[in-house]
Amino acid sequence: MSKALRLGVNIDHVATLRNARGSAYPDPLRAALVAQAAGADGITAHLREDRRHIRDADMAALREGLAIPLNFEMAATEEMQRIALATRPHAVCLVPEKREERTTEGGLDVAADDNRLADYIAPLREAGARVSMFIGHDPRQIEASARIGAGVVELHTGHYCDLHYEGRFEERDIELEALRAGAAYAHSLGLEVHAGHGLTFETVTPIAAIPEVRELNIGHFLISEAVFLGLEPAITQMRHLMDAARG
Ligand code: PXP
Repeated sequence: MSKALRLGVNIDHVATLRNARGSAYPDPLRAALVAQAAGADGITAHLREDRRHIRDADMAALREGLAIPLNFEMAATEEMQRIALATRPHAVCLVPEKREERTTEGGLDVAADDNRLADYIAPLREAGARVSMFIGHDPRQIEASARIGAGVVELHTGHYCDLHYEGRFEERDIELEALRAGAAYAHSLGLEVHAGHGLTFETVTPIAAIPEVRELNIGHFLISEAVFLGLEPAITQMRHLMDAARG
């Protein structure tokens, strides 16, 4: 199995900071270019329905300004499909979205909505986008993702990270085992496996060590750590930890 593990840097929270003051800075594209120079393999941005961080103009600027792949995170709505088809990103990641949530709290229920999602992703795939489903490690969701023709699943690591920081280490290890099993199962069905949400320097190693995982998407921690280290050193350190985990 390939040892290569890509790092996608999520720059949403650069826009959160900008929007908090209604200023023109910090610019998400500038952060994305720093991430690109620091060795990120891709940039991830989530255009939410409420535009709380990334805005339409940011997506267009990222698409225009980046040399590395853009991963467009979005809810499976008609509006987002239209924007994605116009933006033509390298990749689209479908996520559940609730207005009242602070961040993407759970995985997408692909199994409950498989017919609609199969139709929904077809034009995106025809347009050349790599389509992934952001899901939990539940085998039913993995099977449904394979069935509808998504080439990729991204496994939600948020619960694992929460359990770690709550000091619930036995439960954390059970969750980690389920993520490992989910990654192996998804890979056995021919899906490419990604992972992300909540990952930090403390929690990344066991996830990066899962051999089937090909890409991690990390945002909030890297942007937070940039306050102390700077964005480039934060990304460099994350990269080192990922490479070390890969042996
Ligand atoms: N992957 C997906 C699908 C996400 O929705 C998010 C959060 O926007 C991330 C990865 C990154 O999570 P975090 O910002 O907690 O690192």
